Amino acid sequence: MRVVIGVTGASGQIYARDLIKKVRLTEGVDAEVIFTDTAKAVYTDETGEELPYPLSDNDSYFNRNASGSNAADVMIIIPCTMGTVGRIANGVTSDLISRIAEVQLKERKKLIICPRETPLSLIHLRNLTTLTEAGALIAPASPSYYNHPQTLADLSEHFTARILDIVGVKQLDSELRWKK
Ligand SMILES: Cc1cc2nc3c(=O)[nH]c(=O)nc-3n(C[C@H](O)[C@H](O)[C@H](O)COP(=O)(O)O)c2cc1C
Repeated sequence: MRVVIGVTGASGQIYARDLIKKVRLTEGVDAEVIFTDTAKAVYTDETGEELPYPLSDNDSYFNRNASGSNAADVMIIIPCTMGTVGRIANGVTSDLISRIAEVQLKERKKLIICPRETPLSLIHLRNLTTLTEAGALIAPASPSYYNHPQTLADLSEHFTARILDIVGVKQLDSELRWKK
């Protein structure tokens, strides 16, 4: 399975860090990771860590996933800024991340968007609706609390495992799933 992870400059970079780690450790998954310039700054600021190299160049369209003839199986944008949401919803492919997202939508391939902003304006909500109508799956970076998380790592663990569920790679421990 080929997976592209796009990281943009929203808050919540621990989700990107943890998802990238998990995907890279998953057998049978060929992962490519792309950061916007703003994401690079916010990632190092919020995590205090080095960027998770290797990264693909967001300024170059010479990338296999940028063509419908060789589209990825799944793209996840985590966290996704309202700027990137707006660009994709309006067909503005000004960087590799927005171009691959466009390819995923036109080829009817999976596109998972984890938006992060609060509160949401009418423009944000309309753009997110457009993306849903076009076939994207909107999965807000909104972790659950029914599993009684104690740390930030617990929150991220649960949320990123849920995203991998949607990708089609079951990761979440059964004791962390809701059941009564
Ligand atoms: C520390 C920091 C946190 C930010 N958090 C958010 C956020 O949560 N959501 C958002 O939409 N934009 C956020 N922004 C603004 C975006 O980074 C900005 O709109 C940028 O142009 C997005 O570019 P990109 O989509 O190419 O990464 C944040 C910026 C900084 C510096």
